[in-house]
Amino acid sequence: MASELANYWSLESSRLFLNHGSFGACPDFVIAEQRKWQDLMEQEPVRFFEELMPELLLKSRQALGAFLSCSADDLALVSNATSGVNTILRSLQFEQGDEILVPNHAYQACRNTIDFVAERWSANVVEVAIPFPIDGPETVVELMKSACTPRTKLVMIDTVTSPTGLRMPFEELTEFFEGRGVEVLLDAAHGIGMIPLNLGDLGASYVTSNCHKWLCAPKGSAFLYVRKDKQSKIQPLTISHGHTFPLGGTTRFRHEFDWTGTQDISGWCALPAVIEGMAKLVEGGWETIMEHNHDLAIQGRNILCERLGIQPPCPDEMIACISTIQLPGELVTPELMHEPDPLHQILSETYNIQVPVWSWPSPAGRYLRISAQLYNSIEQYEQLADALVNELK
Ligand SMILES: Cc1ncc(COP(=O)(O)O)c(C=O)c1O
Repeated sequence: MASELANYWSLESSRLFLNHGSFGACPDFVIAEQRKWQDLMEQEPVRFFEELMPELLLKSRQALGAFLSCSADDLALVSNATSGVNTILRSLQFEQGDEILVPNHAYQACRNTIDFVAERWSANVVEVAIPFPIDGPETVVELMKSACTPRTKLVMIDTVTSPTGLRMPFEELTEFFEGRGVEVLLDAAHGIGMIPLNLGDLGASYVTSNCHKWLCAPKGSAFLYVRKDKQSKIQPLTISHGHTFPLGGTTRFRHEFDWTGTQDISGWCALPAVIEGMAKLVEGGWETIMEHNHDLAIQGRNILCERLGIQPPCPDEMIACISTIQLPGELVTPELMHEPDPLHQILSETYNIQVPVWSWPSPAGRYLRISAQLYNSIEQYEQLADALVNELK
């Protein structure tokens, strides 16, 4: 049984959906809100884009700015975190021998971008090996700090890692690296709506986050924050009219990012209503949502660990709303992340459970990641535990 709040979503009722982390899932009111903007767009497209759009996008950036405690002027709307990371890395210039630091838990698509850019500039990628299981955030801080050299130019840090579900000590790391003149690119794909973010105080040069994951906004809605002093060197991936448009009292950053060609912007237009509407689903609003999902992820993780007779791989403080465990038994798939594990298929087809299972190199093994969102319930993790005990015996 899903939780009572599942009534706000149209997820298949017979399916146990434990993977909010990959693509999010929208409540019905969010879909309706997006459709409203799509209808308006199609009723009079020219009026929509030429007259209404600037004000609509301003309202969306303002709603995000209020939620993130930063200036709306420092935010650009982008389609996803991969584009946000690409926008930064492909705008920056490096010198031969410069170092780009990245933990080994980084999301592979973003790591690919680092490798691509480093090769282009003959820069070096320095991968920091973070252990998993891990005893606490201090270990991450120590390892990351000790990898910093005079050649370190940029560090990419996740707010919460994708394969291992670790809440990184990104606040402390940001302070350390930015304090040494090293630019921090925060991959907060699992960020907004999952953990409190105060970008005004954080001090990172660059932050990108998906609204379509934990904010439950429509797919293709994300933002990129660029600190004011860095904005002149960052261009969108698509150069458009804003590159030469007369400034007229605004900034080149604003002009360039506010128009990158015709596209469906209904997901971005929905953002103010999503932020407000989600907060109304539970008493206490967003603070309660984040706490609830955090507690549920820990309880779900503990149920699995107990039933499988394994130790939790990290302390509770390193959990946000997703949690990864290493499954007992032999590794079945020899290849890394890209290969689907047969257990994923079995859980999906035999037990009607959607939960990711993948392999991870250190220590080599089979890993499973649960998510916790308002529509999930404790019984669902118990059901998953039953299925795992049955399949792994
Ligand atoms: C840490 C991290 N970065 C980036 C991404 C990419 O997100 P998107 O596909 O929306 O660009 C993900 C997706 O799961 C992620 O977990």
